[in-house]
This record gives sequence, C-alpha cells and structure tokens, in this order.
Amino acid sequence: MRNVSLYHHLICFSLLLVTHLTSVSSWKRDEFRNCNQTPFCKRARSRKPGSCPLITADVSITDGDLTAKLISKNLENPEDQSPINPLILTISVHQDGVLRLKINEDPSFDPPKKRFEVPDVIVPEFLEKKLWLQRLSEEVIGGDSGPSSVVYLLDGYEAVLRHDPFEVFVREKGGKRVLSLNSNGLFDFEQLKVKKEGEDWEERFRGHTDTRPYGPQSISFDVSFYGADFVYGIPEHATSLALKPTSGPGVEESEPYRLFNLDVFEYLHESPFGIYGSIPVMISHGRARGTSGFFWLNAAEMQIDVLGSGWDAESGIALPSDQSQIDTLWMSEAGVIDAFFFVGPGPKDVVRQYTSVTGTPAMPQFFATAYHQCRWNYRDEEDVAQVDSKFDEYDIPYDVLWLDIEHTDGKRYFTWDRVLFPHPEEMQNKLAAKGRHMVTIVDPHIKRDESFHLHKEATQKGYYVKDATGKDYDGWCWPGSSSYPDMLNPEIRSWWADKFSLENYVGSTPSLYIWNDMNEPSVFNGPEVTMPRDALHYGGVEHRELHNAYGYYFHMATADGLVKRGDGKVRPFVLSRAFFPGSQRHGAVWTGDNTAEWEHLRVSVPMILTLGLTGITFSGADVGGFFGNPEPELLVRWYQLGAYYPFFRAHAHHDTKRREPWLFGERNTELMKEAIHVRYALLPYFYTLFREANTSGVPVMRPLWMEFPADEATFSNDEAFMVGSSLLVQGVFTERAKHASVYLPSGQSWYYLNSGTAYKGGRTHKMEVSEESIPAFQRAGTIIPRKDRFRRSSTQMENDPYTLVIALNSTQEAEGELYIDDGKSFEFAKGAYLHRRFVFSNGKLTSSNAAPSASGKRQFSSDCVVERIILLGYSPGPKSTHIEPANQKAEIELGPLYLRNGRSPTVFTIRKPNVRIADDWMIQVL
Ligand code: NOJ
Repeated sequence: MRNVSLYHHLICFSLLLVTHLTSVSSWKRDEFRNCNQTPFCKRARSRKPGSCPLITADVSITDGDLTAKLISKNLENPEDQSPINPLILTISVHQDGVLRLKINEDPSFDPPKKRFEVPDVIVPEFLEKKLWLQRLSEEVIGGDSGPSSVVYLLDGYEAVLRHDPFEVFVREKGGKRVLSLNSNGLFDFEQLKVKKEGEDWEERFRGHTDTRPYGPQSISFDVSFYGADFVYGIPEHATSLALKPTSGPGVEESEPYRLFNLDVFEYLHESPFGIYGSIPVMISHGRARGTSGFFWLNAAEMQIDVLGSGWDAESGIALPSDQSQIDTLWMSEAGVIDAFFFVGPGPKDVVRQYTSVTGTPAMPQFFATAYHQCRWNYRDEEDVAQVDSKFDEYDIPYDVLWLDIEHTDGKRYFTWDRVLFPHPEEMQNKLAAKGRHMVTIVDPHIKRDESFHLHKEATQKGYYVKDATGKDYDGWCWPGSSSYPDMLNPEIRSWWADKFSLENYVGSTPSLYIWNDMNEPSVFNGPEVTMPRDALHYGGVEHRELHNAYGYYFHMATADGLVKRGDGKVRPFVLSRAFFPGSQRHGAVWTGDNTAEWEHLRVSVPMILTLGLTGITFSGADVGGFFGNPEPELLVRWYQLGAYYPFFRAHAHHDTKRREPWLFGERNTELMKEAIHVRYALLPYFYTLFREANTSGVPVMRPLWMEFPADEATFSNDEAFMVGSSLLVQGVFTERAKHASVYLPSGQSWYYLNSGTAYKGGRTHKMEVSEESIPAFQRAGTIIPRKDRFRRSSTQMENDPYTLVIALNSTQEAEGELYIDDGKSFEFAKGAYLHRRFVFSNGKLTSSNAAPSASGKRQFSSDCVVERIILLGYSPGPKSTHIEPANQKAEIELGPLYLRNGRSPTVFTIRKPNVRIADDWMIQVL
C-alpha cells in the first residue's frame, strides 16, 4: 500500500515537474485568475462612482493624531437594510511631508477576527518622526453643508479630512490639490461578520477550494494624483515605466495591474499580470505639479486600475479643481487601510519620503556590486574550477560564482551533493584566494523527509505553516513533498537565521553568500502555483492576509542569518526573487525568469527603473535571458546593458546551451569582456551611488525624469536611463541596429563615452551604433571616478589608483563625488569611510571632505592615489599643472581615454598627479 502511494506520488510529481519545466511557448494564462474570476476584484470594479455612503463623525485630536469615525450616512434611514458598523480613521503627520492614514474596524463592535496589520515593515525611526498635531481648523469646502477638518502637514502643505462626503486630501496651503482619497466615492470596506445559515463563502478555482472562513473582507478606494502627466511604480509587472490606463474610454479590455507574488512560468512582457514581487507604491509626475506618491501597506492580493481620462464621464462628480489629474482604483482582498501620502514635490523627495517609512537600501558589500556568473547549474567542483580558470585565461574579471539547486543533496538546502561537491570548503577557499565569492541557493520549501534534520526539527517545533485544518501544510516543490517555515513568526526567523552559522551550514565558509528563490512562495500543486489562501500562520493570520510579504520575511531571516554568522560585523548579501516594501533593507532582487528575446532585454529597463523608484535599487535582470538560447548578438547587447544594471548577473536555465563569455568566438568574447570592463572601471562610481541610495533612498539607476523633472520629453522614456546623475545610457534593443535614437535632456551637453565628443542636449540624436557598445554619455558638469586597471576580481582592485574623468560644462566647471569604505563591514555606519567632493572651477580642481563632521567617529583611510585626470571639453592651451599642498607639477598631455583597448581616442590628461584620494588637495591648471 505504501509503495502504491509512493508510486502515485512519484507519478504526480514527475507530471508536475514536467509541466513546470518543459519549455512551453508561452505563459499559461489559464493557470492564473483574472479579475473576473476574483470576486473581490469584480465587485470593486463594478462599483459606481459616488456609491460610498460614508461620512465623518466625532472628529478630534487624540494623542497628536486626528481621529474620527466613518459612519454610514444612511444610518438614520430606517429602510437601510445593511447598516455598517463605524470604522475608525486616524491621520498622523510625519516630518518631511508624509501623511499616514489608517482605517480599520472599530474593536468595540467585536469583529469576529482582528484584521491583519503587516508588522516589521515600517522602520522604528519613522515612528519617531511623528509630529504631534495640536490644532484642527475648520473650513467649509465648496458647497458642502458642513465644515471639514484641516491640519498642518508640512510648510506649505495641509491635509484635509472632508466630512461629507468623506474624502481625504493633501493640498498646497489654501490652494491646489496634490493627492486625494475617495474623491470619486469608490471607497468600500467589507466588514467581517459571522456566517449566517446557508451562506456559501467558499471560492473555487481550477480544482482548488478556498474555504474563506471569514467571508468577504476586501477594501477598495480611489486615489487621485493632481497635476500628473503620468503615474509609475507598483512593481512587479513586465511592462512600461509610465503605466498605461487599464480602464476607461479607448482602453481595450484590460486587466488591472495585479499585485500578487507568483511564480509565473515564462512571463510575458507588456502585461499587467502580477509576478514575483509586490510594492503597492505609486508615484505621479507632471510638469504642472511635480511629483507625489502613495503607498498602501497591505500584504493581501491587490489589484490596481489606472483610470484613463474620461472614465467617469457619466459619474456626474466634478472634482473641485481645475488641475489635470490621474485617478486610480485600489482593491485588496483583506487587511486594513494603512496608507501614506508623499507630497514630493520633486522625484527625489518622494523616494526619500517613501524610504523614510520603509527604510533605505542596505549598503552592499563592494564585491556584490561587481559581475556575477550564474547558471542552473554549475555541475560539480571540476566545472566550477574550469569556469573560474577560464575567466583568468581570458582575462575577464568576475566576483561571484553561483550554485543553483542541483548542488544540494536531493534539494535539501544547507546540504551538498557529496559526489559532485565532495570538498565545498576547499572549493570556496580557492575562489576566495582570488578575492572571489560563492553564492548557493536556499529556498523556503523544506523536503518532508524524516531523515532530514531541518524537517525533523521544524516538525517537532511546530514551525511550519499550517493548512486550513491545522496540519503542517504539505505542498510540492523541487524536492517533492515539502513544507514551509512560518516566517511571520520572529522566533522561527531567528531559528532559520541560526542555520547559516558556519557550524550549522556544514561546508560553508565566510566567503559564501545566499540566494533565496521560490519564496512567493512557489508551490507547484497549489492554487495559482502558490500556497492556499486559507493556510494558517502565526497568530491565526490567514495566508491570504500576508501572502505578498511571505518572501520578504524569508529574505529578512536569511539576511539576518548572515549578519549573525559574521557576528554582526559583516554585511550580508542575499538575492531574493519575491519582494515587498522594505525588501531593500535585506538585499538584492532580480526580475526572475525572463526569456532570451529582444523584447525581454527592452522590458528589463522599465522593470529595474520601477523597482528603483519604489525603494529597491539593488536589482537586475538575468543577463542573456533565463529561458532560451540567445543569439550571440543579443547576448552581447545584454552584457552591454547589464553592465549598467545595479545588480549585474548572467544566468541561464539548465536546458539552455552553455553561454559563458568565451563560447561565441573571439570577437564576441572581446565584446563581452569589454562590457564587463566598463562595469569594473565604473565600480567606484557605482559604489558611491549605492551609498547615496543608502543614505537618501535615491536609486542608482534612475528614470531620466528623476534628473530632469521639467523636461517633458523624458517622462515616458524607458529605453534610456541615468546611472546616478552623471551617466546616461541608451539601450539597443533590435537586431543588427546601425543607429539608435538618443534623446539627450536639455540644458547641457553630453560627452559620448566612447569618444569624448560632446553632443548638444535638448534634442534627439540619431547616433551610429556599432557592435562595440551601446550609447552612453557623461553629462557636462560632472566628475566620474574610475579605476582603469583590471584584476581578477573587484576585491583585488582595492589598492589600485583612480582616474577622474572631468566633463566640463559651458562655463568650464564640473563636480563629482567619491565614497569609499572597507567594502565589507558595518564600520561605515559609525563613520569609518571617506567621502570626497571634487570641484573643478576657475581652472582649478579641488578635493575636499564631503562627510559630515562628527566627533568620536571611526576612521577609515586609503593609500590610493589619483593617477590620471581626464579633461573633457577643455579649451586647449595649458600644458602643466601646479599641485598644492605638495607644491609639485604634473604635465597635461594628450593621453588615451581608456587604457584597456588599443584604439582609444586621445584626450587632455593630467598625468600622474599622484595625489592621495584621502587628502585635501588642489590642482591648478597653468
Ligand atoms: C527559478 C529561478 O527563477 C531560477 O533563476 C532558478 O535557476 C530556478 N528556479 C532553479 O533554482
């Protein structure tokens, strides 16, 4: 009998694997629910504008917050058959232009269950920034019959709670609106109730039944962005940067943008379908107003409509505003309203405001910002050694070699297949000797195997997520029958974190870092390839309530594990596929299983830009495309673009042909090597940008409009992007391209990276492109630090000298920055770093300290020197320089722009100034 059942399981599992693994030609749409098959979405979408019956009552200031009740206007109407209990509303105001709005059920009415509020996402510092509201002023808005409440938000901004009809909005003081909620009266809050006889709350989809023991509990409302030309954000979708309307006149039948973390096999580009991660943050931008943002902290399935202009033509609601606006509809299956309004007014202000709530991106280790080589799978130790030595043979730098699931003993994470990997420590140490690192994969599904210690322990301790009947949930994933640790529980996260100690993770060494995959979580035989919504977590929380945050907690626990392993001294590196607001604090993410197609190369840009706008700057797409075999030209173009992704990793499915950079003939190897060299040369610049992100939330890779917010031509451009504020990169997304149209934003000229030639801004240039590179430009007025010598790994470049590239503007001025620390520890957080500012003006380059001065700071120094200073756009004449305080001379000569390839153009170069990077100095051109 046992054997029969085992046999049956094996067959089932093989079938599941086959369906999951075989390369089908396209995404299996039917496996996933659309809005019509999702009752809460269908209900919310069918509501009519103005249907919200709520008004505000009992408004007061309590504990520094504005509090009120939302009651049904029809309560007084005895004919109303479905009165709703009052809801409690709280508005709090935080420093820096952040308004927080909470709406939940009133506990004094004893709802059958406490609704889930997502813990551990908001950073404690944010709570300390609450402003203690003192005063409420009243004002009659428009033709309202009664007053509304007005509170201070930020100098120049106010928040208004309109009583009847219920509405919340932010406006410039006494003037124009910025953001609002429920202006279109679409607000609805389904209250929990006790099931009545005969009521059927179950939902069925493709053979799966969701018992829904608490019945309908969804929430929906509209949010309007004023003075907006476009809205952006709400990753993760494989679609354009500027979000297209999903409903309204002229919009073909479209699904809303879905936020539901799913393992979508072969996802499509150009689709509002939700994939691996969810960040309910939308940002609007327009010439009239600037930038504003909205964030809903809620981990249940969400659907968001961008309503095209004219969607409400028949609603009869005229908003009291002469401003252009974009309306959106937000719908979630469960949870509460915990929403944040960000006033901007600039793009960088909004990301700063958002990351003040959920935290800024973690500072990565230096090596993690370099090039990563991955494949499913590097077979065995010999394969690893060969790949590693080939990089040396071809003189291509790389920093990290990755091992996918096959390195384990039967997909039991934290173990090794001892036949293929008999000496894991030795293998890692060999890499480490060249300054390289290794990453292994650790997924959340634990093989249900009695002899597997992790499973035994998790079972005994009751650490698994439970199914609706209270038994350990059993789903299918790579190892077959699997269970999933309940990462919502801090005790379980701490237990998990301990598994990464060198002692517990046998065969690991300090140079090993981690990859968290399948953490949506992916369950091959679950509804929509994930966990059933009625599965149960810590504290009786239903999976439906926290689904989108499961991967986030898993990522957090893993990153904490690496911190613990290093005794709190070493920065972790963990790559995660699933994500949620706050993931930026725990590591990097990537865009999952893309395909080796030009359109996937193209869509990687808006996908990464969108992640950056919503806090997650350390992200990238699989270089080369995960599925399929890229033509060499596509692969080369992908390397050329990927070299500018914040996270730069090549990866491929096990069914694909091997594609390490030396396998496509000498010329292609040269081209890929050159792309990798571009990244390595720019590592000091990238690292400086990661530090900027770490302190301000401003992403490394930015949409053009973030740097040029007044230039309308940039607003929907998602084929080009900025790396920091100094570099503009234009992707090449077509085969055999001979030209590329490159829009260079206005106000300045731009130096073509390849030649040093200046191009005018404010226009589109038809650039000739060759196979050698994709167009990239340095903005006039900037200084970029580079390291031009190539080693085996970034770690080995530590003591190498710098090159400064000065791109002069029309007044012969420029400035730039450089951040350096030990690249590894947390000492930087105590002040152990160098932050230099370079300014070129009046023919003089100065280097000064840009770090804020604070006493008792830890020290960091560097013996590196500047070996070359390149002057782009310099009017010829002078031949030499005078250096202070050394009182020395350095010559200006024509030298190569790049040391790495023979045919480099020549540019004015200050040769061997040999000033120390750590010091203050001045170089005067004579
Ligand atoms: C799915 C991931 O997205 C992919 O990158 C990985 O190679 C496979 N799982 C196998 O672990």
